[in-house]
Amino acid sequence: MIEIVALSDAMREAVRLAERVATTDANVLVTGESGCGKDALSWFIHSRSQRAGESLVKIDCATLPADLLEAELFGYERGAFSGATEAKPGRLEAAHRGTLVLDEIAHLSLDSQAKLLRMIEHREFERLGGRKTIEVDARLVALTNANLKDAVERRAFRDDLFYRLNVVHIEVPPLRERRKDLEALSRGFVRAYSDKHGRAAKKLSTDALWLLQAYDFPGNVRELANIIERAVIVSVGERIEVSDLTDSVRLAATQRDRKDRRPTLAEIEVDYIREILAATRGNKTEAARILGISRKNLYERLARMEKTEVGGQRSEVGETDI
Ligand SMILES: Nc1ncnc2c1ncn2[C@@H]1O[C@H](COP(=O)(O)OP(=O)(O)O)[C@@H](O)[C@H]1O
Ligand SMILES: [Mg+2]
Repeated sequence: MIEIVALSDAMREAVRLAERVATTDANVLVTGESGCGKDALSWFIHSRSQRAGESLVKIDCATLPADLLEAELFGYERGAFSGATEAKPGRLEAAHRGTLVLDEIAHLSLDSQAKLLRMIEHREFERLGGRKTIEVDARLVALTNANLKDAVERRAFRDDLFYRLNVVHIEVPPLRERRKDLEALSRGFVRAYSDKHGRAAKKLSTDALWLLQAYDFPGNVRELANIIERAVIVSVGERIEVSDLTDSVRLAATQRDRKDRRPTLAEIEVDYIREILAATRGNKTEAARILGISRKNLYERLARMEKTEVGGQRSEVGETDI
């Protein structure tokens, strides 16, 4: 498994808290934006706990409809519902003595929340359609990118369950708020993906790293991993260069550059056309209508943009100083 990178103060604080809580049986609520490392942290907590030798069972509450989710979680007896031709133990039973990770917990229906609460309070439950009460000893780690307190206020989430899960709360900060982690994360991913794709270990050029440092990463660590994997695959030399990074990263850099120097009218036009095309998902007829020009005129401008962009963008990115 991966090592958790935590060099920034914010991430060190989160990991320190995770370490402290890991050795107890307390339920933990881990929150943070998508891709910031909630899953990674739940694995970390399990691996540092006395339950490390037992199962780590994960269930994603967002992907399954309520009835299927309950069947997955609690299991069922034969004949519990049409299609239940055989009894099946649930994930909860598999997590006995281990850790149960409930991903995207905010998606749990109110009905399932009630069942889960009972399981937490009495450490027992029944399979769907079952009479036998099953005892279970599972440590819960709940993950969410939603604000559960808001959900409680909207009465979409039970407050009693919230307090049961929220014994210890760990907030994983977004990547843009822990730039100190970026270099080590990037180099770790370069190594891992060079390995995965059978490439000799590549190096990350200073320019490429600098550009990554300037990027916002709305998709957090997961987005960084994807960007680096792609770069490892497309790069030809032994170093990953700026040209191997995705357009999203390079474009963000040129746009930020532009903020520091006043853009020309032509540049503003180009930016605006891009913005409208993004908003219309590339629908040229609709974009032309919004821009107040003919479709033909739009096509001509796009052709011109494409021509100047190849050279233009490269030189702009190349010129960014460290
Ligand atoms: N601090 C970290 N150190 C190393 N790898 C990390 C770290 N945080 C996240 N990752 C990796 O980034 C990817 C996304 O993280 P994940 O835990 O799935 O995010 P989330 O559950 O918050 O959406 C995973 O491949 C994970 O291993
Ligand atoms: Mg996740």
